[in-house]
Amino acid sequence: MLYDSIGFIGTGNMGSAIASAAARSGQAKEVLLADYDPAKAAALAQTLPGARPSTNEEIARTCQLIVLGVKPQMMAGMLSPLTEILRARADRYVLVTMAAGLSCARIRELAGVSCPVIRLMPNTPCALGAGVVLYCGLDAEQADLDNFAALMAPAGLVDPLDEKLIDAASAISGCGPAYVYLFLEALADGGVACGLPRDKALAYAAQTVEGAARMVLESGKHPGALKDAVCSPAGSTIQGVRALEANGFRSAALEAVIAAYDKTLELGKK
Ligand SMILES: NC(=O)c1ccc[n+]([C@@H]2O[C@H](COP(=O)([O-])OP(=O)(O)OC[C@H]3O[C@@H](n4cnc5c(N)ncnc54)[C@H](OP(=O)(O)O)[C@@H]3O)[C@@H](O)[C@H]2O)c1
Repeated sequence: MLYDSIGFIGTGNMGSAIASAAARSGQAKEVLLADYDPAKAAALAQTLPGARPSTNEEIARTCQLIVLGVKPQMMAGMLSPLTEILRARADRYVLVTMAAGLSCARIRELAGVSCPVIRLMPNTPCALGAGVVLYCGLDAEQADLDNFAALMAPAGLVDPLDEKLIDAASAISGCGPAYVYLFLEALADGGVACGLPRDKALAYAAQTVEGAARMVLESGKHPGALKDAVCSPAGSTIQGVRALEANGFRSAALEAVIAAYDKTLELGKK
């Protein structure tokens, strides 16, 4: 077991998904959970092995890893009452942030301490073990990073990334599920327009997107080559591709990533 105790402050959508992966890793004896709404942390604690409800103060005072799961704009207000507690600690601890746009250095500044920081960029499919967790550190030892990667392993793909690329990656993996949901909804709408019942249209669309993504990951082939293999000459699929191109599908996806990246940079400056 790598950790005696780890704590999560903020058990909303992302904090709970990451806490659940950490609890399932079996690498922490105790997982402490705190939220603005104590009932939320208590309900999550009931579902996770080794977890119990706690408070921001207890987590700041005792945990080896303190995972900050609140929105970027709530970070300063959440951290400032904890500064004195953190400064009073004589033992080693690591702050872990998942806040979009806030650098490790900024988190340390907001916390008013000089401890090591690990920054991760997760996405919501981490809750199913099919997510992406990118991470980097500031003054973290290699052992801190390796232990953290082991803790996150049940979340999905866990990959170290230079901090200067985290915001760019976040515009794909952090925000990307929303884009894919739009695509799925639109595919299903198309199916309904062609006469399919809604539930079947959505199930076929979701399975197709998952299968196509696995083809890219597991075949190692370029997506363009995989697309060519589906498009027979004078067939139906190439007509669908023509319609997508005519309506700016690729450009829309590319612009979505850049728009999210720009917004993340803007949020980080505030
Ligand atoms: N959602 C994503 O897909 C995603 C992807 C990548 C990164 N992130 C990052 O993950 C972080 C959390 O996002 P989220 O979507 O999970 O937000 P969320 O669902 O709103 O969760 C944040 C939780 O923190 C609680 N909270 C707020 N202030 C607190 C305080 N002072 N002490 C204790 N708990 C407090 C909130 O409680 P109340 O609801 O009662 O205010 C809420 O339960 C953000 O920094 C975000 O940038 C999210």
